Amino acid sequence: MLRSALINVMVAAARKAARGLKRDFGEIEHLQVSLKGPGNFVSAADHRAEEILREELGRARPGYGFLGEEGGKQAGTDKTHTWIVDPLDGTTNFLHGIPQFAISIGLQRDDTIVAGLIYNPANDELFTAERGKGAFLNEQRLRVAGRRNLADSVVACELPHLGRGDLAAFRNELALVQERVAGLRRFGAASLDLAWTAAGRLDGYWERNLSPWDMAAGILMVREAGGFVTDTDGRDGMFSSGDILAGNESIHAELLKLLQKAAQNSS
Ligand code: IPD
Ligand code: CA
Ligand code: CA
Repeated sequence: MLRSALINVMVAAARKAARGLKRDFGEIEHLQVSLKGPGNFVSAADHRAEEILREELGRARPGYGFLGEEGGKQAGTDKTHTWIVDPLDGTTNFLHGIPQFAISIGLQRDDTIVAGLIYNPANDELFTAERGKGAFLNEQRLRVAGRRNLADSVVACELPHLGRGDLAAFRNELALVQERVAGLRRFGAASLDLAWTAAGRLDGYWERNLSPWDMAAGILMVREAGGFVTDTDGRDGMFSSGDILAGNESIHAELLKLLQKAAQNSS
C-alpha cells in the first residue's frame, strides 16, 4: 500500500504525539490530572499531545485551520481546510490503565471529511482513510462486516454515566437493542468504535452527545470501508446533533428502526 503525502503527514504527526502518550500511559500513576467535569478528566498528556499535533500538522500544511478538543478552534488563512483533532480519545480508559484509547485526526475540506487517522499507541494499530481511496488498518484494506442479521451481530454503544446523557431515553434504546443482538459492548473510545466498525470487528455502533473530534476521522473510515453512517434520525447531521449510527447497510437499517421505535416510546 502506497500512502499519499497527506496521509504521511498525518501519520508522522500522530506517531510523534503518541510517543508522549505511550510514556505517560506507562507511568499513569505519576500523571498530574485536573478535573474537567463530572466523570470527565483531562490529563497533562492530553494537552501535550494536542500541542504536538497542532505544531506538526501546522508545519506540514501551513494555513489550515485547526479544531482541537483542548485548544478549541484556530482559524487558518486557508478557509477551505480544517484539521479536526482529538489528541486523546478514551481519556477515562487512559487514566485507568485500559489500553483502549486513540489519537484521532480528521481533515475537513469545505463540509467534507477527506482524510482520517485513528491511532491506538497502546497496540500500534493505525487506521487511515482517504476519501475515494479506501480505509486501512496498518497495510491491510478494511471492509465492514457482512453479517445481515441483528441476531448474529455485536454492537457497540455508549453507557451514559454520572452527569452524561439522557438515561431514560438510553434505557429505552437499550431495552429494544439488547434483546435482538448477539452481543453489546461499551469500549469507551468513540473513534475506535468507528474504526472497529470499519474493520468488521463490530457490526454496528450508536452513540449520542459526541463532538466532531470524536467522529470526524471515524465517519470517513466506516464509509471508506463500505459502511453506512448517519445520525440517529438517518440523516447526515452527526456534527450538528452529536448523534451517530454506523454499520453495514443491513445492520445500520435494522438499528435505525429500533432507535426510531425507542424514540416513539420515549415521547
Ligand atoms: C469520549 C469517548 C467516549 C465517549 C464520550 C467521549 P474523551 O471522549 O470517545 O467513548 O462515550 O462521549 O467524550 O473525553 O475520552 O476524549
Ligand atoms: Ca473524545
Ligand atoms: Ca479527548
